[in-house]
Amino acid sequence: MADAKPFYWEDRPEPVAPEVFTIEGGRPLSGTVPISGAKNAALKLMAAATLTGERCRFTNVPEIEDVRVMAETLRDLGVVVDHPEPNVYEVASGDVEWLFVPLEAAAKMRASFMLLGPLLSRFGRVIISNPGGDRIGRRPVDLHVDAMRAMGAQIDYRNGYFFATAPGRLRGSEVRFPTVTVMGTENAILAATLAEGHSVIRPAAREPETDDLIAFLRKMGADVERTYADTIEVNGKRRLRGAEHAVIPDRIEAGTFVVAAAVTGGTVRLERAPCDHLGAFLEIAERVGVGITCGTDTIDVDGTPLLDGGYRAADVETAPYPGLATDLQPPTGVLLSQATGTSNVHETIFEDRLEWLGELRKMGADVRLIDEHHAAIAGPSRLSGAEVEIGDLRAGASLMLAALAATGTTTIHGAHHVHRGYENIQRKFQDLGARIERRAEGTPVTTS
Ligand code: EPZ
Repeated sequence: MADAKPFYWEDRPEPVAPEVFTIEGGRPLSGTVPISGAKNAALKLMAAATLTGERCRFTNVPEIEDVRVMAETLRDLGVVVDHPEPNVYEVASGDVEWLFVPLEAAAKMRASFMLLGPLLSRFGRVIISNPGGDRIGRRPVDLHVDAMRAMGAQIDYRNGYFFATAPGRLRGSEVRFPTVTVMGTENAILAATLAEGHSVIRPAAREPETDDLIAFLRKMGADVERTYADTIEVNGKRRLRGAEHAVIPDRIEAGTFVVAAAVTGGTVRLERAPCDHLGAFLEIAERVGVGITCGTDTIDVDGTPLLDGGYRAADVETAPYPGLATDLQPPTGVLLSQATGTSNVHETIFEDRLEWLGELRKMGADVRLIDEHHAAIAGPSRLSGAEVEIGDLRAGASLMLAALAATGTTTIHGAHHVHRGYENIQRKFQDLGARIERRAEGTPVTTS
């Protein structure tokens, strides 16, 4: 296996060039779309593999930019990362020489901060960049740092870097968070798996991706368990072994394609789709009037009620799982723009995640931003093609949904942001009958 060359990627992915999507809307989508593995599970699983020197193998890994950046960040630490075929990554952290996660990695992807827990717990020290905020919020990492300190780590902050050491071994401890934090919970779990003694983490995130991480850690021999809905307990071990794991399907990608069918008046089947991970979102979609039928691992979406004005407004509020995922708030916003009446949106998790609605307004949506956590969307709005700009991954996918629903042609700048978290999104939409062109920023449109 050592001489296996990565399937079709160079060892160091090229910086992503700015891109544009041109979308001709107004066509009902139809057909079948396969849902890929979950970004927010795959990244943590790859970080968890650094807890052992043995080889770990991951299947159903999404072919997305964030995964490539995580692979690159691990290779920079001296970890061997193989990519023998599409959607398969192998990680072997035998000789980690360089316990330093630079600003470049953090700037490209916040989840690089998930290396704090495992590297500190296994090697007793790491220097890691503060990932800082992004377009959706301030996003401090103070709760991650507090959790490590609760387990006995010494952490100093200088010039944008955390200098973390754990003299001897981390100690099992009670980690109490003032608010639910997904990656904070996951970083604490990873650190606790090799710490000395017993740890209790609460309120712990209940996200399916966190449970996928726990399932993998148990295969590595870790003693970690969700003992109550919001409590995770860990008994630290001296060492863990390599293991193989298939990444769970991406519920955020699935929700995005549910809205794609719904706002184009189409009929689409999602395959490998995690219905049971989408409870709150599907409940809202049905309340609005979208036809939803769940199979074992399929979701059939009937968007035809749109065609006779059959969608009803609904008030929505994001919350930690099992509430409505904040990552599905933007796609849900596009759906609500097609519903009759006024819907109130309460974004409780991030303080800048409603700003993207300004771009949707350019397409004719009737949106009122009340404050950083509240907006009102009145409908149904006839969306029309426009020139818009993407600021982040989920807003980007949502502007694609609006463009598919709109009459005329929409030009979306910053399309490359979407590749961070959606595998082959353009081709998947094309396979459902959408008219989308992707090109580098600054190159002319090729009219078909
Ligand atoms: C994870 O981010 C996801 N990212 C996010 O998905 C998702 O939106 C978020 O969870 C909530 O579901 C990944 O898994 C890679 P949090 P995370 O810590 O863990 C505050 C996407 O589009 N907080 O649960 O960073 C924080 O500011 C991304 O795929 C602190 O104050 O989110 C927020 O208000 C976007 N201090 C709240 O807690 C901390 O130390 C919840 O954030 C940590 C968090």
